[in-house]
Amino acid sequence: MATRHFLTLLDLTPDELNYLIQRAITIKSNLKAQGPSYTPLPNRTLAMIFEKSSTRTRVSFETAMTHFGGHALFLSPRDTQLGRGEPIGDTARVLSEMVDAVMIRTFSHAGLEEFAAASSVPVINALTDDYHPCQLLADVMTWTELRGSVKDRTAVWIGDGNNMCHSWINAARQFDFNLRICCPKGYEPNANMMAVAGNRVTLTHDPQDAVKNVDLITTDVWASMGQEEEQAKREADFAGFQVTEAMLDQAKEDALFLHCLPAHRGEEISTTLLDDPRAVVWQEAGNRLHAQKALIEFLLLGKVN
Ligand code: CP
Ligand code: NVA
Repeated sequence: MATRHFLTLLDLTPDELNYLIQRAITIKSNLKAQGPSYTPLPNRTLAMIFEKSSTRTRVSFETAMTHFGGHALFLSPRDTQLGRGEPIGDTARVLSEMVDAVMIRTFSHAGLEEFAAASSVPVINALTDDYHPCQLLADVMTWTELRGSVKDRTAVWIGDGNNMCHSWINAARQFDFNLRICCPKGYEPNANMMAVAGNRVTLTHDPQDAVKNVDLITTDVWASMGQEEEQAKREADFAGFQVTEAMLDQAKEDALFLHCLPAHRGEEISTTLLDDPRAVVWQEAGNRLHAQKALIEFLLLGKVN
């Protein structure tokens, strides 16, 4: 069987993604009941290449492999030959000889694709400039845990048309929910991605209107990793796009708020938003562990039930 990669949510079928969400919920409940006693990957190794910073992604993947009885290797360009110019494809071929899967956080999505093309073991996208699919597994899991099936529900994305926004668009396609994207002019997501998503994904520039009657509100930082020098310009351009408790009040009564974190209080969210009970970001962050366990298990062992 050809090696399966997880570079975007489109690499798995809707059935497979729905399986992963349910499997993640089961893995979580078994962990809570029995502790980390499920060890399906003894002595297996996940290589983790981080070309950008991380807290949640590193800790969740590393903990997942520890719980599973395996091992995770943290590799940064500073300490590997990648940082000294060894070609991506050569690195992929070498790692494929030794490890069972590779997780990469990098800048260029094309670079990730180049790595995956040369890799004979599964490659997982742990964030590129264009996508963050692992985060969406945890986000859809959280939404599902708290509110049941997400099919035909409506989420709103407020802010930058960035990597997270692109993965929300793919999630809307794959999980069949409606997505309103509300961004300042000039910060729209990729137009082709919008076009192929069809009319379940819509674009607006008015945050007050966009949040009306939605089931879920989500946002992200205004300047992503690699855009630090644009911070001041973005703060000006994103004025009016801060998510506040008053905006949540315009959504459905049982609406939820998600944020991939890290958050900048006082910028994309009000200083107190994460204290609001509708904000379920700590559960969302914790679900990175369970969702990625389901993903690793699926890529290495296939469906287990
Ligand atoms: N949400 C997320 O990916 O967090 P980290 O950057 O801390 O990994
Ligand atoms: N859009 C953010 C997400 C961080 C998890 C970034 O790329 O920096």
